[in-house]
Order: sequence, then structure tokens, then C-alpha cells
Amino acid sequence: MRPVNLKTRIFLDGGDPSETKEIIGRLGFLDGQTTNPTLISKNPAARRRIEQGKKFSKEEVLDFYRDVVLEISSLLPRGSISVEVYADASTKAEEMLQEGREMFSWIPNAQIKFPTISEGLKAAEQALSHGLRVNMTLCFTQEQAAAVYAATKGAKKGAVFVSPFIGRLDDKGENGMDLIYNIIGMYREGDGHVEVLTASVRSIDHLLYALKLGSDIVTAPFGILREWGDRGLPVPGDEYSYDTGSLKAIPIKDIALTKDWSAYDISHGLTDKGLERFSSDWNSLIA
Ligand code: E4P
Repeated sequence: MRPVNLKTRIFLDGGDPSETKEIIGRLGFLDGQTTNPTLISKNPAARRRIEQGKKFSKEEVLDFYRDVVLEISSLLPRGSISVEVYADASTKAEEMLQEGREMFSWIPNAQIKFPTISEGLKAAEQALSHGLRVNMTLCFTQEQAAAVYAATKGAKKGAVFVSPFIGRLDDKGENGMDLIYNIIGMYREGDGHVEVLTASVRSIDHLLYALKLGSDIVTAPFGILREWGDRGLPVPGDEYSYDTGSLKAIPIKDIALTKDWSAYDISHGLTDKGLERFSSDWNSLIA
């Protein structure tokens, strides 16, 4: 059962509906799910098919993604399900938008993931004007989060998530959780239309600290949600302190949210690398 003092929404990060089912059973609730091309490429049915040497055609792989998403949506009819468009460094906003509109029609509770790059932000602006909900992914900096805010100004509450990837910053020796703290602080100066979704969670402490910081949403892999459930769904209070170990601090910047999105420097090496990894994992499924 959802703890009464839990304000944050809890999502499962995964591409296998059997995990969704098990987590709902273990926690007694689940608020949504995030998927991405890598997670879909790890889906057991997709793996079995690839191991048998039967790669998908482009149409078949999208049909497969749709079927997975439909099953997750039937398990979480009131949840939010993030579905990610294909994007590599050369994908244009129009292509992302077209695919996003198609994906949005798959289920009634989709949130379409676009990368936090210029083409992704252009696609998101358009997508919102067509009534889609969006989740801006591969966010690694406060500037990118400011650009998401500016590009989506005027959107309804619930229509925009930003997904800072904390684990991948930790992997580089930087304290990813600082980015969550910094973005939440910066957004306090805004109108609250963008919800912060803590992503790339690697440990139970990432989850607990995100709850303490008041992240709107946290998405975590199966193993971490299972551990949280096994521990009795703790929600940390004032006594909790996050051990940063040897991770390097990411200082907060004083960034005004009032500029046009194109005025922010949104480049980051991990965003580029992330796009490469998502697109190559997706392409590895296709003949
Ligand atoms: C979720 O929306 C993200 O795609 C996911 O959390 C990324 O996690 P990773 O850094 O472990 O791949």
C-alpha cells in the first residue's frame, strides 16, 4: 500500500510487463512506468527472438514495442507510461513528432519521450500543441532543464516531465543527486508546469534521497523497487542523510527561466552518448 506520507510518484523503469505485474503485487501500488529503446531491447521475448536469429523488420519492432506498452498500460490503466521515440544525431524534429504522435495513439496514458536536444525540444513544442504529453529525456544539466521549462511554457500540469539521469553522472564521478537538488531549486522560481522525474537510478539511496528532496516522480529498476518493498516502503524524514562518498559536487547555478529555450547552452557529452546507445540498441533488433 502507498505510504500515507509519500508525496512522490513511483514508476518502474523497465520493458518487461511481467516485472510490472510483480512490482504492483509487491508494493501494492505503482504510479507508472518508463520505457526506453535499451529496455525494450532487453525484453525477454525480444531477446529470445534475436537469439533464434530472427531480427525484426522496422514495422515489426514498432509493433512489438506497441504490444509491450499495451500490456503495461492494461496493468496500470491510471498510471503514466513513457514511450520513447527513435532519435539519433541526424533525426529531425518532424520525424520525432510523427513517431511520437503515432505512439501517443497506442494507449490513453502515454507520455512521449523526446531527447533534450534542439530537435527534441522543437518536437516537444509541436507535440504539446497537438495535445500530447511529453517526457524530456537524457537531461544532464540545469541549463537543459531550464530549456525544457522555456520550450514547454504554457503547458498544462502533468503534460511535461524532465528526466535528469543521475546514475550516469555518478558513473563519471559527479554527484548526480546534486542535479536533482539544483533543478528542483531552480524550478521553485517557476510556475510548476514541469515535473521532475528522477531517472537512471542505481541504488536504494538514490530513491530515498529523491523522495526526501521532493522529486515529483522517481523511476527505478525492478531490483531497487523490490528492495524498497522488502524494507517496508520507507519514506525518509529529517534524520536521513545521503552519503555522497567520493562523488564530485555539482554546484547550483543562478539561471533565469525567462529566456527563449534556444538561448540556453544545452550541449552535453552524455546526452550525445545516450542518443548513440539508445539508437544502437534499437537498431540491434532490426534486420
Ligand atoms: C528512464 O526514463 C531512463 O531512460 C532510465 O532511467 C535510464 O537508466 P540508465 O542510465 O540505467 O540506462
